Amino acid sequence: MVEILPSILSADFARLGEQIAALETAGCRMLHVDVMDGHFVPNITIGPPVVQSLRKATRAILDVHLMIEDPDKYAPVFIQAGADQILVHQEACRHLDRTLRMIQSEGAKAGVVINPATPVAMLDDVLDVVDYVLVMSVNPGFGGQQFIPNALRKVRQLVTRRKERGLQFPIEIDGGVTRENLGKIIDAGVEWVVAGSSVFHTVNPPAAFEEMRRIAHDATTVRV
Ligand code: DX5
Ligand code: ZN
Repeated sequence: MVEILPSILSADFARLGEQIAALETAGCRMLHVDVMDGHFVPNITIGPPVVQSLRKATRAILDVHLMIEDPDKYAPVFIQAGADQILVHQEACRHLDRTLRMIQSEGAKAGVVINPATPVAMLDDVLDVVDYVLVMSVNPGFGGQQFIPNALRKVRQLVTRRKERGLQFPIEIDGGVTRENLGKIIDAGVEWVVAGSSVFHTVNPPAAFEEMRRIAHDATTVRV
């Protein structure tokens, strides 16, 4: 099932509740929440109190992307705040297997992320542990960057590995997704598509969301 996940990084934070409610009415079921600490990436965003408020404001699944130096310390805090799914970077985890299992034992889905410079092979020994995998299609830190096409080759590699090993994990993509490249992204085998500026930096975010969902569904129909 293909899902579009609006990334609130590009939302108007002063109108966050209102913008999310409008997206939910348009059928949005999952929201992507970018957490940055100014160390792992050169930007600072939000912390657990915002997730706690989001939890009260929406029934959508909260997909929390930790771009921070110490995910082991903070993943349980974000789960406690209401995150349903936690994404940790392979590059930030010294004991990735342990971190993923810890997230699951705390009651959330555990996803792993790879940066553009990290090969899929780095995940070979955790693919049977993870609940999902996110391929970064920009270098993390900012919204509104250009899609790096090599991400699609990595998605295809993951699709092949998933099939060979009889696994089921959804594949997510994050960064630079537009209405124009969405069809290709779905064709490559992505199930969950994060979209920041292409949803929020438009005159009508719910309409942009609906259009992206339609494009994604059309591409899925062609794929099957
Ligand atoms: C980038 C973040 C993304 C970002 C995507 O570091 O992880 O989730 O919000 O924004 P767009 O879709 O504008 O590239
Ligand atoms: Zn993200």
